[in-house]
Amino acid sequence: MKNLLACFRFLKKYKVHLSIAFVLLVISTGFNLIQPRISQWAIDDGIGKQDIKTVIYAAIILLSFGLVGSFLNYYSGILLIRSAQGMGYSIRNKLFKKVSLFAFADFDKWRTGELMVRLNSDVSTIQQFVRMGLFMLVLAILMLFGAMGGMFLIDVYLATILSGIMLVTLLFFYFVARYLRPLFTHIREALDRVNNVIQENIAGAKLVRAFSAQKTEEQKFDKQNKSYYQIRIKVGNLMSILLPLLITIGNFTGLIAIWVGGNMVGIEKLTLGELVAFNNYATMAVFPILVLAMVLNFISMAMASADRVIELLEVKPAIKENKNAIDLNKLNGNIEFQNVDLQYGEGEAAIQNLSFRIEAGEKIGIIGTTGAGKSSLIHLIPRFYDNTKGKILIDNKDIKNLSLNTIRSRINVALQETMLFSGTIAENIRYGDPNATEKEMKIAAQAACAEEFILKKEKQFEENVGVRGAGLSGGQRQRVAIARALLAKPDILILDDVTSSLDVTTEAKVIKNIYKSKNKMTTIIISQKINAVKGADRIFVMDKGKIISSGQHHELLEKCKFYSQINKTQDTVTVS
Ligand SMILES: Nc1ncnc2c1ncn2[C@@H]1O[C@H](COP(=O)(O)OP(=O)(O)OP(=O)(O)O)[C@@H](O)[C@H]1O
Ligand SMILES: [Mg+2]
Repeated sequence: MKNLLACFRFLKKYKVHLSIAFVLLVISTGFNLIQPRISQWAIDDGIGKQDIKTVIYAAIILLSFGLVGSFLNYYSGILLIRSAQGMGYSIRNKLFKKVSLFAFADFDKWRTGELMVRLNSDVSTIQQFVRMGLFMLVLAILMLFGAMGGMFLIDVYLATILSGIMLVTLLFFYFVARYLRPLFTHIREALDRVNNVIQENIAGAKLVRAFSAQKTEEQKFDKQNKSYYQIRIKVGNLMSILLPLLITIGNFTGLIAIWVGGNMVGIEKLTLGELVAFNNYATMAVFPILVLAMVLNFISMAMASADRVIELLEVKPAIKENKNAIDLNKLNGNIEFQNVDLQYGEGEAAIQNLSFRIEAGEKIGIIGTTGAGKSSLIHLIPRFYDNTKGKILIDNKDIKNLSLNTIRSRINVALQETMLFSGTIAENIRYGDPNATEKEMKIAAQAACAEEFILKKEKQFEENVGVRGAGLSGGQRQRVAIARALLAKPDILILDDVTSSLDVTTEAKVIKNIYKSKNKMTTIIISQKINAVKGADRIFVMDKGKIISSGQHHELLEKCKFYSQINKTQDTVTVS
């Protein structure tokens, strides 16, 4: 409940809307509640005394009250929709902002599907509750107490008998709701599982086809879909008993009212009009009981969703910016590691007691076996992950004292898994610097050897890359990613194995262009290939989280057995 109330904080902006909506709801319910009294007046003073004028007045008043009541009800609904949508809009924005503050380590913990469900369906459930649940709750309570009040005003004895029946009915439905509540949670969980299978199948569609595993996947889906179907049928069956049961109770209540009330009319303790009005109130009082039963379920659904939403809102991202962090427009670009460790979870550290210094403008190559810790090392520089031991300095300042904006905008990493957004090639390159001129963008594309394939495309730079770059080959995607990184004109440029899909000649050309670039940026190029690193001022050879040797190509050939062995197995190409 605490979390649901916390979600209502987002309704603050709509205080006025909500207050008006509820006032209108109270007035419109008032109009409804007064109607049986008007009927009573029409019967006793109109029909009873054969005064046709009173009957006509009563009919006009009934009609106008009905119309005004319905209009107020409609307007209050509109205001509620506005408040609920506004709340949903704010919560979604806030959640999105939170997710955009997530560090790499946070994404290691949270599954994409789960985040999507929280941002979409959970917010919608809370929204629905404000829109429908609150409306129904207020309406039902007003109607129930109003109708009871109406009955007691007409006749206390008869009202007491009927209140007894109502109370028993209410208790009965309360227990039904309590029984149904866990079933609603099961529905959500079953739906979650259906969504998970769909989401994984779409994300891994190509893998499923590559393994010709459609049949297995269909069976997996069918299993979850069936369990969802079965639980919905079970709940559906239960719910469909409720309505006829309630109508029967309603009829039974009416029967008692007419039977007991009829006798009272016979002995002139009650007028006929009073009996009709009383009967109307009795019917009015039965309806809110069903509504309350439903609202009870609505509340538990909204509470479950609110728990999930608030949990996400309260996540503290793994990377925190220091309060006094300084903002710099430019970095010189020297990097120093002092006894740095990075440990992801339990087990061996991915980076172990690493110390080195890279001077500003130096060109560094990193080579090593797969899993050696190359990506882990460079992820520490822009604080994608925080080191678990030691200190990292950039421009001789602890990186924790630099603002995230400084290190993320002045250090650019072309990540190992190339990711492009749907859109044109130009849009993707411009992601590096949206304000870059056409010429600057083309220079970046040339340096990345991307222009040569782009110009062969029908629409050239305006060609669409397809969903996540699916319309480009692996090597083309990598070159767009390099151009994107170059266009950002960082002070420290890091390429994490993004030349792996390029042929040796193109790879050598790209690297040469980067080295030749006018920007005096510090450059770190990671690769599994000697060709990509041999031209560097210094090459780090990595193994098991450590730098086992470093030096220039020719030095390493002499002093590092591991390096010279890799060299032997690979053809080297030189581009002049
Ligand atoms: N996010 C992560 N969570 C847990 N362990 C990780 C994570 N990323 C990497 N590791 C582990 O850290 C070690 C080093 O991985 P890293 O990705 O740095 O290697 P790499 O040298 O870049 O390899 P490759 O050449 O294959 O890209 C590996 O044992 C890997 O399993
Ligand atoms: Mg890697």
